[in-house]
Amino acid sequence: MDIWHIRGGRRLEGACFVQGSKNASLPIIAASIICPTRSELFNVPQLKDVDAALRILRHLGCSAEQRGGDVYIDSSGLSGSAIPHSLMEEMRSSVIFMGALLARCGEARLSLPGGCQLGRRPIDLHLSALKQLGAEIEEDGGEIICRAAKLQGTEITLPFPSVGATENAMLAACRAKGETVIRGAAREPEIVALQNYLREMGADIRGAGSGTVTVNGLRPEASVVQRIIPDRIVAATIACAAAATGGNVELRGVNPEQFSTVLHFLNQAGCDIISTNRSVRLLSDGRLHGVGEISTAPYPGFPTDAQPVLMAALLKAEGRTVITENIFENRYRQVPELCRLGADVTASGKTAEIWGVECLHGTALTATDLRGGAAMIVAGLAAEGETVICDDGHITRGYERFDMRLRSLGADIYLEY
Ligand code: EPZ
Repeated sequence: MDIWHIRGGRRLEGACFVQGSKNASLPIIAASIICPTRSELFNVPQLKDVDAALRILRHLGCSAEQRGGDVYIDSSGLSGSAIPHSLMEEMRSSVIFMGALLARCGEARLSLPGGCQLGRRPIDLHLSALKQLGAEIEEDGGEIICRAAKLQGTEITLPFPSVGATENAMLAACRAKGETVIRGAAREPEIVALQNYLREMGADIRGAGSGTVTVNGLRPEASVVQRIIPDRIVAATIACAAAATGGNVELRGVNPEQFSTVLHFLNQAGCDIISTNRSVRLLSDGRLHGVGEISTAPYPGFPTDAQPVLMAALLKAEGRTVITENIFENRYRQVPELCRLGADVTASGKTAEIWGVECLHGTALTATDLRGGAAMIVAGLAAEGETVICDDGHITRGYERFDMRLRSLGADIYLEY
């Protein structure tokens, strides 16, 4: 059990670098097996989910190790195509090994993935995309067996721009014969990052970021070197913490464009935002106001992953904010916990209504999921007195040495393992 101790009420001040992106690292690690290649990845965050992905690689016969922010993978020794449930259930992203294994071995045996409990998280779009590329899929209880004697390029139209389904389709399409066009693809920066990695690996792939990704096979390179992009959700979380505490923080090594919708609402709430192409400074006097309406949407819309942390930043904002969560059906699990701090938030169905309160008071909370837990940290930093968050390992799945990073900005926070 991780226990986060926070003494709130201190302004965050100073500058910090933002870690590499978890959600860019994980699909790239899965992609490393689609042909026998050596990969060197830099700026990979040291997180439980990354460790779980590397353990899957080793289970499959690859060599994979992380030294600090560097990850070294050699997938030439891959000798299996089955992933046991104990490894699959550790995170959602394990499902991306389905497309990767199918591409490399023509077979994948795995089970339904784990990950945060955010409501129903079906994988029908992943399975449908792989079937369209020629895979035969048997489902038996939670077990999934995919086989394809040959993958054949085709036109795939995703009815919803699922990030994971786009990634699976891109990986399988790299080893398909002929051209694959994925329409309705997710446009997230992590999709562009995956495309960049696949190109280095020798794939003929273009269009990521536009909604139509075209893949025309792969001529494998012996080795790939790739730097992982900064984590836009961690950047958004620190920006929200700075806003909530009346702080003055510079985030370095980030791409502000990638979380511009979050910065837009923080600006609407009364923060000054000064951006360059590699940094953002956020200045807040701590007197925020409600921002009206916020709706989550696929990129380039407002990210669902930043919804809980922006909610936390607005708990003391004068007036009303209404959030509509359009991506996940159960992403307000943090709300009852935030109310225990004195917040006035009511959530019903897709909608949450926040009325700003004068003051939050620290108390004992329980982290419900990764971003919900991060929201409790943001709220705890803005609350008077001590907040203690009991966390069954959710937050450290996505935030690297977050206590140290916040302490370097003046927060009174420590993590007891
Ligand atoms: C990715 O999850 C991220 N995870 C999530 O981040 C993020 O919240 C999400 O994209 C949306 O941006 C990783 O990248 C590892 P989706 P993913 O497929 O790929 C429905 C975090 O906190 N759907 O775009 O699982 C699904 O139920 C995490 O870091 C289907 O109906 O997201 C959901 O409602 C949490 N059928 C919506 O689409 C499918 O086959 C978005 O899911 C697939 C998805």
